[in-house]
Formats: sequence, C-alpha cells, structure tokens
Amino acid sequence: MKHINIIGIGTGNPEHVTIQAINAMNAAEVIFLPLKGAGKEELAEVRREICERYVTRPDIRISEFEVPQRQTADRSYTQSVDAWHGEIATIYGELISGLPDGGTGAFLVWGDPSLYDSTIRIIERVRQANSIDFDYSVVPGITSIQALAASHKIPLNLVGKPVEITTGRRLARDGLQGDSTVVMLDGEQVFAKIDDPDAEIFWGAYLGTKDEIVRSGRLSDIAADILVLRAEARQRHGWIMDIYLLRKGHDFEE
Ligand SMILES: C[S@@+](CC[C@H](N)C(=O)[O-])C[C@H]1O[C@@H](n2cnc3c(N)ncnc32)[C@H](O)[C@@H]1O
Repeated sequence: MKHINIIGIGTGNPEHVTIQAINAMNAAEVIFLPLKGAGKEELAEVRREICERYVTRPDIRISEFEVPQRQTADRSYTQSVDAWHGEIATIYGELISGLPDGGTGAFLVWGDPSLYDSTIRIIERVRQANSIDFDYSVVPGITSIQALAASHKIPLNLVGKPVEITTGRRLARDGLQGDSTVVMLDGEQVFAKIDDPDAEIFWGAYLGTKDEIVRSGRLSDIAADILVLRAEARQRHGWIMDIYLLRKGHDFEE
C-alpha cells in the first residue's frame, strides 16, 4: 500500500524541524512542495532550504505543485472553502496516484498539521473518495503559537485558566471574551478595533525567520504602533504572517 507522511516543519526556522520530521522526509521517495503563488515565494524557499539541509537519501524526488487560489465570488465562506478543498483533493489524488506501488510520499506542512491547516482533512477526503489505496501518518511540528510564546518568553495561559485560539474573522464577530486569546489569520488587524483598557497584546510577525518582529504592551498604548509597523513590513516583504495573544488579568487572580 502507498503511504503519505504529513510532516509539520515549524514556522520558518529550519531548526524547528524535528528529528522525527527529518526521518519521515527521508522515508519518502517523493516530497511534494506546494507553491502558493506570487508574493509567497519566500515560504516556498523555506521549504526548499529544509529539503536541501535535511534530505540525505540520494534518490528522493522533489515535486513542486501549484496550490489553486480560493474563489470567493458568489459563495459563502464555507462553500468557497469546501470547493477549494475539492480542487486541492483532485491535485493530491493525482500526486498520490503517481507514487510507485508501496511507495511513500511526503507533504511538508507549515507549523503543525493540526492547527488551521487542512492537509489532513484533504488527504482524508482523497482516501474517502476510495479510488486510491493508501494510508498516512502525521508528524507534529512547532506551531506559530509556540514560536510566539517563546519569542515573548511567556507561558500562554494564566495560572489555571483556559486559552482560546481563534481567527481575526471570529474576533471581529464575537469580541474579546476570555483571559488569553490567540488570534491567527487576521488580515483586518482586528486588535486595533478592540476597546478594552485591561487588554495586553503580545504580537509577532515572521516568527522563526531572520525578519522576526515582536512587540508587546498594553493594547491601547501600542495598537497604533503595531498597525504602522505591520503595514511597513508588509510593504517591504510583499507578504506578512502575524499572530498575537490578547491577555486580560494576571496569574493568581480570581
Ligand atoms: C493557515 S495558518 C497555519 C498555521 C500553522 N499550521 C501553525 O501551526 O502555526 C496561517 C496563520 O498562522 C500564523 N503564522 C504562521 N506562521 C507564522 C509566522 N512565522 N509568524 C507569525 N505568524 C505565523 C499566522 O496567524 C497565519 O495567518
């Protein structure tokens, strides 16, 4: 039976790659590298660098493939994501079909495959479609949340309190609820619209890369500075990935 390794590679620093990930890469005949279009070349470059640095098996083939853009016109968010996953599943199916019988392929996933990433979901969709016989394994990776906490030298939770992980879209809809809220995928800088005198922000962009930027402080004091910094960085690089923790309260406070 064919086998797929879904491998978390961390968030931009090749040293995030674990020994388990390196072994899973070298167990593959083919490593599939996604290309996510103009402006995201640096992300493809990180994946290539990881392959150059850690692939030791001489006969491994690196197969790059284009990831289609999600179409949003005339569709709800869920409809557009579902249709997009369907398109990617077709591509994955072709890639997996091309593996030799009994062969192994590897997909390198940014951060960890369990966190705001649909590789597992889409691979499962290909399997459910039943036309190709394969199984798969998942190798965990360092997430952008861990990279954020490490760079700020903070624990994520307050003592005995929960942590919520959400998106910019949800934060805009629901407002700031919990003690510790991690916000990802925020293209609208929703933090700048939160009016809460008690909130602190721990923000980071390009975490793990040589261009990493981090800022922290009372949200109302530094939100405007982060907006400017973010806009300048985005302009300079042509892309940005950022994440933040919003925190209210203190350890040992009921
Ligand atoms: C599609 S999600 C993928 C998350 C990834 N699977 C993980 O484990 O971190 C992309 C979001 O992750 C966050 N992110 C990923 N890498 C990052 C980085 N190097 N620096 C800052 N944020 C990052 C950003 O919020 C970005 O919008």
